Amino acid sequence: MTQTEPATDNISLQQRGDEYLINMMMTPEGIDDPAPWYKKLRDDMPVFQSASGSVFLTRYEDCRAVLRDNRFGKVERNADATMLAVDKSDEMTKFRQAQQERRRQGPQSMLFLNPPDHTRMRSLVSRAFTPRRIEGMRASISSLSEECMDALAEHGGGDAIDILGWVPINVIGELVGVPRSDWARFRDLVTTSAVSLEPTATLDDLKSAEVAFGEMWGYFLDLVAERRVMPGEDLISGLLEVEVDGDKLSDAEVVSTAVLLFGAGMETTQNLIGNGLGALFKNPEQHHKLWEQPELVDLAVEEMLRWDSPVQIDGRGALEDADVAGLDVPKGASIVTLLGAANRDPAQFSNADAFDIARNEGPPMSFASGIHFCLGANLARAEGQEVFAGLIRRFSSVTQAGPLVNRNRMTLRGYEAVPVEVTPR
Ligand code: HEM
Repeated sequence: MTQTEPATDNISLQQRGDEYLINMMMTPEGIDDPAPWYKKLRDDMPVFQSASGSVFLTRYEDCRAVLRDNRFGKVERNADATMLAVDKSDEMTKFRQAQQERRRQGPQSMLFLNPPDHTRMRSLVSRAFTPRRIEGMRASISSLSEECMDALAEHGGGDAIDILGWVPINVIGELVGVPRSDWARFRDLVTTSAVSLEPTATLDDLKSAEVAFGEMWGYFLDLVAERRVMPGEDLISGLLEVEVDGDKLSDAEVVSTAVLLFGAGMETTQNLIGNGLGALFKNPEQHHKLWEQPELVDLAVEEMLRWDSPVQIDGRGALEDADVAGLDVPKGASIVTLLGAANRDPAQFSNADAFDIARNEGPPMSFASGIHFCLGANLARAEGQEVFAGLIRRFSSVTQAGPLVNRNRMTLRGYEAVPVEVTPR
């Protein structure tokens, strides 16, 4: 790799950058609030190659450029947390290799594919996952969210993660066509499987995640077989019907898509709700403003996504020798796009560290960019908007009723518990 600074500066710069990364990812303070470390990286070394070989990007434009550049894509090493994994023991490496091998044998979800396979899969899935289908979910989102508001009202509050976190799982359950009686089971399975995305995942975490994936896979194989015989109005039936120039999704591809939708759409959206409440509690004057001006709710949700992004880390691998914002990288190099840092880039957002619900400066990087841009972005936004509009409509006040408990996760950032007290109108 080539860098412009002299060699001695490179060493001290690299040590300093690695220290920033350790502070950011492995200390309670860093995990609680990575923003100061993002700022240090962005100010001192915006294109930083760590001793691990991975290149870290913190500027909005750099992240966007890499995510939109097809010289960078999904490589096995960065298909999950392996590129940043903390545990590099032999046992862990063997487990990850076996996991990769199992993945290679089954159909991959679109998240792990490059063109042309990604293009085919995404375009087939998009025929069923249409903006019309998502807009058609609005009434459902609203009534599912209202049920959760009732639960809050009944007890004068409670843990918002536990109670409002039902909204995303219920919405995906209904969209995909999972019977209501199984939604609770899926909430546990998805939570267990999502840990595999974390750099700090232990071997036990990964083993439990594999079991959870296996259970979801088996469940959807049965559901897909049922829908083949008796189609309904749901997304699985839609995916089974889609055909483009004689090309159709196989049953296994429909299964991998259903598992992906649950994995990608549940915890992320739960974190949007939890992090959004956290942002309001930490910024009381903005909290007050939102209750005074509920018409700002759509912008407020956009600002929640930006200020405390539910997904903080994304990445790509170099599919060929290439350059990243002036740094030459060889084929296979890992590029880590720190989405949470990009969202605080002062070159993109004025007074970027301030939480301002009336900000209207374009989309955050929270849903990534380019060919893997989040397929569920509008669904997630609709859920966030319905939940916060519902809270304002139903309660004259929603206040913090205890400490916010962090989940200690870096990739999918969120709270374990957000205790609230509500006053019904
Ligand atoms: C606030 C909530 C959400 C956030 C922050 C979020 C974020 C992201 C990000 C950053 C990616 C890009 C991953 C990459 O570059 O490799 C992504 C991809 C994806 N998301 Fe979301 N997501 C959210 C909600 C949802 C929902 C509700 C669904 C659907 C039910 C969903 C479905 C997907 C799918 C299918 C992909 C893969 C797209 C592809 O590979 O072409 N997401 N999401």
